[in-house]
Amino acid sequence: MPNRVVIGSQWGDEGKAKIVDFLTKYADIIVRFQGGANAGHTVKADDREFIFHLIPSGIMHPNKVCVIGNGVVFDPKQAILEIKDLVSKGISVENRILIAENAHVVLPWHIACDKLKEAKAGKSAIGTTGRGIGPCYSDKVNRHGVRVGDLLSEQELRARIEDIATFRNEEFKKMFDAEPIDPEPVIKEYLDLGKQLKAYICDTVSYLFEGLKNKKQIIFEGAQGTILDVDHGTYPFVTSSNTVAGYASCGSGVGPTTIDQVIGVVKAYTTRVGNGPFPTELSDETGDKLREIGGEYGATTGRPRRCGWFDAPVVRKAAAVNGLTHLAITKLDVLDTFKEIKICTSYKLEGKDLLFFPNRVEQVSLCEPVYETVPGWECSTTNCRSWSDLPPNAQKYLTRISELADVKIGIISIGAKRDESIIMDIGE
Ligand code: IMO
Ligand code: MG
Repeated sequence: MPNRVVIGSQWGDEGKAKIVDFLTKYADIIVRFQGGANAGHTVKADDREFIFHLIPSGIMHPNKVCVIGNGVVFDPKQAILEIKDLVSKGISVENRILIAENAHVVLPWHIACDKLKEAKAGKSAIGTTGRGIGPCYSDKVNRHGVRVGDLLSEQELRARIEDIATFRNEEFKKMFDAEPIDPEPVIKEYLDLGKQLKAYICDTVSYLFEGLKNKKQIIFEGAQGTILDVDHGTYPFVTSSNTVAGYASCGSGVGPTTIDQVIGVVKAYTTRVGNGPFPTELSDETGDKLREIGGEYGATTGRPRRCGWFDAPVVRKAAAVNGLTHLAITKLDVLDTFKEIKICTSYKLEGKDLLFFPNRVEQVSLCEPVYETVPGWECSTTNCRSWSDLPPNAQKYLTRISELADVKIGIISIGAKRDESIIMDIGE
């Protein structure tokens, strides 16, 4: 039974949640290890649709335990909303959600600062989700943070919040000419949130350690995507966490030897939400067609996603930095009606061929995609349940993607529902 990381291999929104939900039947524990409520993870199960921002996508399966790991930046208000929603829809959360006591807490200063910074940046804004992610991670690294365990002690919480308030309110006044936030009501409110969440807060590191000793199978659920990684993405147009597979270990407190498989989720085309360069972007009616058929609107912010053709240099980079063992190719059905499909096989940069997505954002902006055009299959794939059910041109398209990425295909998704999936080689 492999322990798997399921990771976004483009710019996020690859359909990770569907793959995690699907694989949860083979697992015991599902762990989020980075990011926060910037994620928008949509799961369609039993004719119901859920969008999770913080709760791991395995929660729809009874008897599986969902862990919010130490690497997550945790918004307690959002977590309570999601828990209440699950309970109201008859999904039991009792003893099934564990929150790391050493995860950092997103506070009102973080959300306000995220928005103020973006507003001030004007044209050079990142296009964040406004969920306070960057400021919370920066306070964590800067040692001004509040951790989940602090919500359980008035003395600790007061000391930590007073520290943050001094630092951030000064910034609000000087940098943004904005109103300070009074720490007193925040202390009260967050102590109350801590009370509501007390039953879920624990030492998740020792829980996972025991689980591994007892041969429990873990899925590490990535949020965002490789090209939004703070080190490997289009910096500064990135999120503020490491989104790559290696961080599954650090952000949940298990050793790297725990991980047996790394499944890179890729859409059969490419999307991006937020600002920053995107070489295969289609600002024409083909892009609009992808957006409309694919329902490409942000699950967290509702923003229309930018759409473009499949980009092999992006996925090659993801294969390298994540050590991908398998690809999960999603939303193949979105291409069902296209007469012709383009695949970006490499970039032209300053007269040279480039196979690998560059590190420097200035270079990414100058990259010209080199396309190969392949015929579409022009029929529905949604009812296909095996490789041999797929039309030959769809098989050729998938084979070409796998060849360009140099990673074998583990799963193909041809619809949002659980059973709209083709399993190729996933080693249960
Ligand atoms: P899931 O998990 C797509 C993008 C934002 C912005 C940048 C920084 O659903 O794939 P942030 O709020 O993180 O500081 O914003 O990252 N972004 C995402 N894009 N999918 C996501 O999550 C994203 N989470 C953040 O649009 O460009
Ligand atoms: Mg999403």
